[in-house]
Amino acid sequence: MNEVNGSTKILGLIGDPVEHTGSPAIHNLLASKLGDNVIYVPFRVKAKRLEEAVEGAYALGIEGLNVTVPHKVEVMQYVTELDDAALEIGAVNTLAKVRGGYKGYNTDFSGFMRELDSVDIQVNGKDVIVLGAGGAAKAVMYALRRLGARQIYVLNRSIEKAEALFGRLSNVSIMGFDDWKKIASGQYICIQCTSVGLSPDDNSCVIEDEGFYDLVESAVDLIYKPKETAFMKKVTSHGGKAYNGLRMLMYQAVSSYEFFMKKEVPEDITEELYRELDHNN
Ligand code: ATR
Repeated sequence: MNEVNGSTKILGLIGDPVEHTGSPAIHNLLASKLGDNVIYVPFRVKAKRLEEAVEGAYALGIEGLNVTVPHKVEVMQYVTELDDAALEIGAVNTLAKVRGGYKGYNTDFSGFMRELDSVDIQVNGKDVIVLGAGGAAKAVMYALRRLGARQIYVLNRSIEKAEALFGRLSNVSIMGFDDWKKIASGQYICIQCTSVGLSPDDNSCVIEDEGFYDLVESAVDLIYKPKETAFMKKVTSHGGKAYNGLRMLMYQAVSSYEFFMKKEVPEDITEELYRELDHNN
């Protein structure tokens, strides 16, 4: 634990619930590696008190906040400035102090892009299959389009929900999970954005059908617990490369920290942080 004194900068997380969050561990570890006098604290905030919480945080001089479920959309009303990407995604997970209040950012998308980069998955000009259409998929879709994906197939349990989120986008096809057979054979990047397979449900996989995995050349499962999900096992057993979501989690934290502290985190510190998080995962 960092020593707290009169010049300690306060960072935190607002959400409901916040008991199971891993963010304090990541940010406090990062702060101690960088030698920053910072403490990161989780705050449980009820939806009806969100505005008061943001104003109160500013009044207290809190340097920055992460925002999690259920506040990522509603908090956009209470920011002083909003980053263009966060506006387009329609969700904010980071508030960094500026004059008069906070600027809202989305580092889920940038965290995902940094993970793709670090595992050398190149999206530009490629066809991509996205499994799921919830909050996480919104940030992933924004990143994939920004990186120049050619065609994106979004497969979701609720087609209506996927249509409502992504139906107007060009070069996006929306279908149910059983419709994967309609996708032309080839080698695709696949991003697993559903909650299926999350621990303790380790053996579940959103598409059980083995034939699907012949389409997958490289994949990221946004889940990082278990370390190797059932989805990842299927991808690798069919010759593809598969990565979990731990790097995305870490990079979204690192990107948030960079906005909070208005400085870059060196790559060697990030790699050291990753090794520790992976070891403890
Ligand atoms: P997150 O913020 O993690 O994306 P979310 O917004 O609740 O969480 O989205 C969860 C995703 O997992 C959705 O795509 C959801 O499908 P629906 O849109 O049809 O609800 C998907 N999901 C959750 N449980 C599922 C299950 N048992 N089978 C298939 N998909 C599931």
